[in-house]
Amino acid sequence: MSQPPAGTGPVLLPTKAALAAARPGLGAPVVLVPTMGALHAGHRALLQAARDQAGPAGSVIVSIFVNPLQFRPGEDLDRYPRTLDDDLAMCASEGVRAVFAPSAAEMYPGGQPDVTVDPGPAGRVFEGEFRPGFFDGVLTVVLKLFHLIRPDVAVFGAKDAQQLMLVRRMVSDVDLDIAIAATPTVRDHDGLATSSRNRYLSAADRALALTLPRGLRAGQARAAQGAPAVLAAAEKVLRGETALAVDYVAVVDPRTFSPVAPDHAGPALIVAAARAGATRLIDNVPVVLAAGPAGADGEGQSRDAADH
Ligand code: PAJ
Repeated sequence: MSQPPAGTGPVLLPTKAALAAARPGLGAPVVLVPTMGALHAGHRALLQAARDQAGPAGSVIVSIFVNPLQFRPGEDLDRYPRTLDDDLAMCASEGVRAVFAPSAAEMYPGGQPDVTVDPGPAGRVFEGEFRPGFFDGVLTVVLKLFHLIRPDVAVFGAKDAQQLMLVRRMVSDVDLDIAIAATPTVRDHDGLATSSRNRYLSAADRALALTLPRGLRAGQARAAQGAPAVLAAAEKVLRGETALAVDYVAVVDPRTFSPVAPDHAGPALIVAAARAGATRLIDNVPVVLAAGPAGADGEGQSRDAADH
């Protein structure tokens, strides 16, 4: 029962009861890809990585759930794209065995849960600062999905680097027996990281949004000069585009999301978030830093409020 026969789509599981009934029939290892649907090329890469992880005997299960807990009032919960038929077709083409697609009432029968996961200090900076409660919502639903599905492996994208770091931290801190696998960021030909929200972008906003990967690449190109030079180069591009509303740009330690010291040498991430029109985008690139010049000052981060 591990691989669906050719031409057969995944089994659609709309309830916890249907999931519980199907779970014993899923060949091990069971590999979970949690998503909010509106699947695109980035998700496809996760499905392919999951298929590789599952091997010939294992099963890939995808969850599709637009989690209300991670949206604040005024954010795009109601207009978040929902494309279940297309999502199922992509899952079928990538050998997915089952799709768990519950309703909000199924996941949260009592409404807003009282008991939630606190992401800790690393969940209150960057995305956690600009979207208060966001990571509480993400980790709460991910923990629920882990308990309901009991996967051996779960696959996440490096595109959402802070989310990936916090999921790993949760797995370690509460001793979950689940391996977390990561997939590199998938980009469109113009360099923009693929995202379900990109479909909101007008042509003009998309051109503006491209400043984000351009700024990150400019930072990456200065890796040999150390963290302050990397940050300055990324900032110059991002802050230079006045129509782009930059929330933050920083050079951080990927394991903690603390801004790196000016003389930090080794792996780091350049992270940034910005709004192009009404659409908010996040992106990051890995960088291997050489130690910066001695005596360089300044921290490896810059916030909008601090600068303007
Ligand atoms: P969603 O935005 O649908 O993303 C699902 C997974 O796809 C995440 O692990 C994300 O990092 C990955 N992903 C999205 N775009 C990508 C890209 N361009 N390249 C590589 N990976 C990409 O992230 C969520 O949903 C939710 O927060 C969720 C974890 C499902 C909890 O609700």
